[in-house]
Amino acid sequence: MSEFSYRDGSLWAEQVSLEQVAERFGTPTYVYSRAHFEQQYQAYANALGNHPGLICYAVKANSNLGILSLLAQLGAGFDIVSGGELDRVLLAGGDPSRVVFSGVGKSANEMRRALKVGVHCFNIESEAEIQRLEQVAAECETIAPISLRVNPDVDAQTHPYISTGLKENKFGIAIDRALEVYLSAANSPHLKVIGVDCHIGSQLTEIAPFLDALERLLVLVDNLASNGIQLEHLDLGGGLGVRYRGEEPPPVADYLQAVLARIGERKLGLILEPGRSIAANGGVLLTRVDYLKRTEEHNFAIVDAAMNDNLRPALYQAWQDIVPVTPDHGESSLWDIVGPVCETGDFLGKNRTLALKEGQLLAMLSTGAYGFTMSSNYNSRPRAAEVLVDGHNTYLVRARETFSDLVRGETPVPEKV
Ligand code: LLP
Repeated sequence: MSEFSYRDGSLWAEQVSLEQVAERFGTPTYVYSRAHFEQQYQAYANALGNHPGLICYAVKANSNLGILSLLAQLGAGFDIVSGGELDRVLLAGGDPSRVVFSGVGKSANEMRRALKVGVHCFNIESEAEIQRLEQVAAECETIAPISLRVNPDVDAQTHPYISTGLKENKFGIAIDRALEVYLSAANSPHLKVIGVDCHIGSQLTEIAPFLDALERLLVLVDNLASNGIQLEHLDLGGGLGVRYRGEEPPPVADYLQAVLARIGERKLGLILEPGRSIAANGGVLLTRVDYLKRTEEHNFAIVDAAMNDNLRPALYQAWQDIVPVTPDHGESSLWDIVGPVCETGDFLGKNRTLALKEGQLLAMLSTGAYGFTMSSNYNSRPRAAEVLVDGHNTYLVRARETFSDLVRGETPVPEKV
């Protein structure tokens, strides 16, 4: 989180004081550092070097147009999972020929749109989906480029909700069925087999599970080659973890070096779909303490951000650091930092040692990925503002929602007839 640091007793994002951001835009507000996103993307691009391939940022991690546009300006590719994400990428100036389309449930309409704009590849998740895409491509009188997402059955050793590469998960085609499915897809006049992909899970802090998955995919790649199917690329998905609290994920360069070494002399492009490792430590969630409430059991700090703003603690028991924007040197106690939503699960952090007073500004760190994108309007709470800091400049990249945003499209009914 090096773009967020204390200076003169207060927390800054690059050259902008977070106190000023809160004054200007209110709270809760997500604040992103442009430099962080750029550095993390470049770490991947540099590590890929001259090897053919694409770094396809996983849009689901943070899909704000400000973020997508800065990545598009760097020449990034994008990994999308819906028509909505595709339209965001296009609106942000992204190049559709650098887009891979993942996801288990692409609709025929989404397929049509993606064919029309010319995405690089459809990452196919099931045999039923191949049939659907074949039909849609035939209707559109075109040829769909495809990769099969195979399920390599490796244990990513991460939280079960974000582990995706085991046989029992809903994702991908079992690796032992893949050859047969490839052979049949290769016969279709409306499909062009160009790759293989997998994504075994998220927040991985070791390289070994990636390499296990890669070895299994390479056996398949070689096997396909001897059956006359020469793939153009292998896509290893996303999943590299970040430091939330003491984790030590390998540097991007080490990870890619190990991957490229195993690909060796094969003429095989490499695609990666990193989300969290580009975005997580590029954002903080600013929130203000509204009330302090001491009970016999606990001290609660009730803040103006809640589970609807950042669902990760409630959903995954995720730990994300919470720090004062302007540290107070008073006496600290143990606090549960909770939101105003009417659920016991509405907490941002438990048992945090902090010196707090009402009105104080806090920053929840490492919230640049899967923060805003997983937020909701639960309890009719307008979603937070989003601000992008670039050096001394501050851009409001999403205005705070208003009540009329909340009820847009809704209507009361007339009295009962
Ligand atoms: N590619 C595919 C096909 C994916 O399903 C995902 C994430 C990614 C790439 C990006 O993975 P990353 O590099 O971000 O690990 N909401 C959860 C994370 C869910 C990840 C879902 N898939 C969280 O907040 O921890």
